[in-house]
Amino acid sequence: MSAEEEKMEEIKEAQEELKNDVKIVEIEDLPFVGPATAEKLREAGYFSVEAIAVASPAELSSAAEIGESTASKIISAARKLASVGGFETGDVVYERRKNIGKITTGSNELDRLLGGGIETQSITELFGEFGSGKTQICHQVAVNVQLPKDQGGLNGAVVVIDTEGTFRPERIIQMAEAKGLDPDKVLKNIYVAQAYNSNHQMLLVDNAKELATRLKKDGVNVRLLIVDSLTAHFRAEYVGRGTLADRQQKLNKHLHDLLRFGEIFNAAIVVTNQVMAKPDQFFGDPTKPVGGHIVAHTATFRVYLRKSKGELRVARLIDSPHLPEGEAIFRITERGVEDR
Ligand SMILES: Nc1ncnc2c1ncn2[C@@H]1O[C@H](COP(=O)(O)OP(=O)(O)OP(=O)(O)O)[C@@H](O)[C@H]1O
Ligand SMILES: [Mg+2]
Repeated sequence: MSAEEEKMEEIKEAQEELKNDVKIVEIEDLPFVGPATAEKLREAGYFSVEAIAVASPAELSSAAEIGESTASKIISAARKLASVGGFETGDVVYERRKNIGKITTGSNELDRLLGGGIETQSITELFGEFGSGKTQICHQVAVNVQLPKDQGGLNGAVVVIDTEGTFRPERIIQMAEAKGLDPDKVLKNIYVAQAYNSNHQMLLVDNAKELATRLKKDGVNVRLLIVDSLTAHFRAEYVGRGTLADRQQKLNKHLHDLLRFGEIFNAAIVVTNQVMAKPDQFFGDPTKPVGGHIVAHTATFRVYLRKSKGELRVARLIDSPHLPEGEAIFRITERGVEDR
């Protein structure tokens, strides 16, 4: 395909995507939900119409301090708006899955392990101990997604939810230059927000939806959403077993919101999760990955990273539904993620 034909293809694709444009509804769009009620609902963790649609009248009534019959009316309106419980026919699902894109990690070996790169419409969880390269891979993919398709990118923009203050524009500049990209342009395509606590982190997914919808109208497609770290706030805020169920429930909701974002925008979701180097610890142990089975069941690709000699890192794919388990060795250098 010539460069011109490729551009035409891309324009056609962008138009297709625009046709399927999404309408984001806010909880304020629901009847009986004014600003004060909306605030109470958000405080209680109901950030989206979808969340309200699956709530029970009793839950909603106590969360928003409204009568149960009003709560019922809100829920039934939310169900209509959110089309929760709506079934899709197989061909619709197939059509969506045909559009799955892949982003190169910068290492062919790691890409191969992942079945071609980091996939859109899926959650990829990078877990491993400190310094294993989770944040470095996030930075690298934030650059690579901006590459044209024939170079392993998706011509896309990026949203970063940074919970630990580890996003470094300087590092992006290094990686962009190594790829021959204009670092200024690359930085302008990365939208970063700091999350101050877990509630804020969850709320930022809603904000990201608004942002991505707005950008889409200007012809910019967000094709990658990063949450680095997914679990740090949850780990810090919910200590002890008393609140563990609550934490898991919130994390579960958060992950489903992220997955939904990935489906709506055909974006890749990359999340990080720090674990200590000791595997097989017992429940409640601080060395165990936060989120445990919740994250495990929702993330499509779980990549365990560990340090090796010097610049070398080893990635292992853990219980992937359709890829063989295996390992990939790559390097982290000043240029970024590379083959060894
Ligand atoms: N500019 C650079 N040049 C070469 N290597 C670098 C550079 N910046 C970072 N690294 C490598 O990446 C490592 C840090 O990895 P990273 O920050 O991704 O860890 P992490 O898995 O996110 O850890 P944490 O759990 O603490 O967040 C450094 O120890 C170093 O080996
Ligand atoms: Mg990190």
